Amino acid sequence: SLQIALDKPVHAVSQTLYGLMTEEINFSYDGGLYAELVRNRTFQDHGFGGVAHWNIEHYGSSRASMEIDQAEGPSAALSHSLALTITQADPANRAGVRNEGYWGMALRPNTTYKGSLYAKADSTFAGSLNLALINDNTGKAAASTDTSALTREWKRYEFTLKTGDLETSSENHLLLTAGHNGRIWLDLISLMPPTFNNRENGNRSDLMEKMAAMHPTFLRLPGGNYLEGDQIDERFDWKNTIGPLVDRPTHRSPWNYQSSDGMGLLEFLEWTEDLKIETVLAVYAGYSLKGDHIQAGPALVPYVQDALDEIEFAIGDTSTQWGALRAKLGHPMPFHVNYVEIGNEDQFDHSDSYEGRYAQFYKAIKTKYPQLQLIATTPLKRMRPDVVDDHYYRRADEFFDDVKHYDQTDRNGPKIFVGEWATREGSPTTNMGAALGDAAWMTGMERNSDLIVMASYAPLFVNVNPGGMQWESDLIGYDALKSYGSPSYYAQCMFGEYLGNEVPTSSITGEGKLFFYSVTRDSRTGKIYLKMVNASSVPQVLDINFSGMNKVMPVAMLISLSGKTNAETNSISAPTQIVPVKTSTRIEGPNFSHTIPPYSVQVLELEAH
Ligand code: AHR
Repeated sequence: SLQIALDKPVHAVSQTLYGLMTEEINFSYDGGLYAELVRNRTFQDHGFGGVAHWNIEHYGSSRASMEIDQAEGPSAALSHSLALTITQADPANRAGVRNEGYWGMALRPNTTYKGSLYAKADSTFAGSLNLALINDNTGKAAASTDTSALTREWKRYEFTLKTGDLETSSENHLLLTAGHNGRIWLDLISLMPPTFNNRENGNRSDLMEKMAAMHPTFLRLPGGNYLEGDQIDERFDWKNTIGPLVDRPTHRSPWNYQSSDGMGLLEFLEWTEDLKIETVLAVYAGYSLKGDHIQAGPALVPYVQDALDEIEFAIGDTSTQWGALRAKLGHPMPFHVNYVEIGNEDQFDHSDSYEGRYAQFYKAIKTKYPQLQLIATTPLKRMRPDVVDDHYYRRADEFFDDVKHYDQTDRNGPKIFVGEWATREGSPTTNMGAALGDAAWMTGMERNSDLIVMASYAPLFVNVNPGGMQWESDLIGYDALKSYGSPSYYAQCMFGEYLGNEVPTSSITGEGKLFFYSVTRDSRTGKIYLKMVNASSVPQVLDINFSGMNKVMPVAMLISLSGKTNAETNSISAPTQIVPVKTSTRIEGPNFSHTIPPYSVQVLELEAH
């Protein structure tokens, strides 16, 4: 039986408990959240770019060949381009290149796609380029337009492609052709569909909506391993990710593909603004994944300065150097940052340099920004950080066995940020068994939400196409057209939505070994959120007893996420097999019995005064 004393709150619930963590992994940004349709738009060859995802297309007698020209580009940052040589062409026999997109390009009816590209031509080429969106199956153009005549200098060309009545599909590509002989150079070929909040260079709406439904309160950015890079010069070097796209050199991500950096620091911050959440800003701290590090001391000073500049870019007012640049880039208002994380998973730095590096960053950041809470990525021996980031990637059984992990943790130590955690069962996205492991773990985090200030599941996203996944078991899957949430995603939505602001006293006896619960209350509304997780194959009958109130209102809401087995799951073709079901239910007084079905996560929302 479960006893809940509403007049005896044990502690407050952190109002930033649930948030988001993402990075460029599993085509989370390029080929995911970032709405860009063109894949490998800049041809910067760092082992992944080159001419990949582009193919020659020619008609009739025309011929064309392509190569990367490493000596020609529209900017210092984009110093390579695609050189296209066209022969035997005329307006009736065109030739050019096609881009396949990120496993296709999603096209919707009566929709305007905004494009741009950089191009120049040699003296033999006289004419324009045609841009068309072509259906892969029919070969028919869904939309088509021409640029003005190319010149011998690099120039940016803007265009729009508007579809008419068509069937929504992702089996489309972008085709660029010319009806003239000669050599042309192309770069930064971009095509954007409508985006969330109509942001230029913005995000896919379906994925933004899915994140919003989780009721997050923060976004930890920009990673993860992505922050560190495999090598120091492959870190998230934020200064290379701001300003016009043509000035962003792109970089190799540790997840083995080139990052377009179309989603740079400002776009990340705008994403938090669009979701109305705060930023947990992770700054590069002088250690990269393959083991290179910079010792604390003078060599680290430029990296500390980069972090100070980055914070100023995010929160400095417009009288500061980096705040002024942010304003110039279109965002005068500072963003909302309370936490800065120094590095990522520095326990893997076996040289033990982290203590010194953390201390150097800490001193510089606290001196300038005393209001910021600074997160260490691993416990420290010589100083007490404000917050420590703990990561857990586990099987469901391991979470079940460890739900009391933080129950006895010293409350005088640092606060805890569970910055990455997940039950890793199911692929590409997690299954019902994982949702049960996650939900059990979340009951423990809520019970300890005086200590745990924040928690974020990882990884959040996966492109489910073959080759799209570098990390199995993710929360939200998608292809070019559609997206879906895993059962774990829905468990997160339920816990995020029904949070409350205090934890009442409670105790339980006689429950099954695989039964877990958490109870929170919203002192402002009198709402009580009883979360129950039954991970066993048999129903759990629970006698519930409330005390410390006058009256329990008779109408309650039950939100239930259930599977028939642990293996049941959602997928791109069956996206809603397992989703929460809401029903209204009657409660007879402060003592009642409730049965939780097997393999279920439930939230019972009651009201008591
Ligand atoms: O979430 C995947 C990876 O797991 C993160 O990049 C890293 O921080 C952790 O090891």
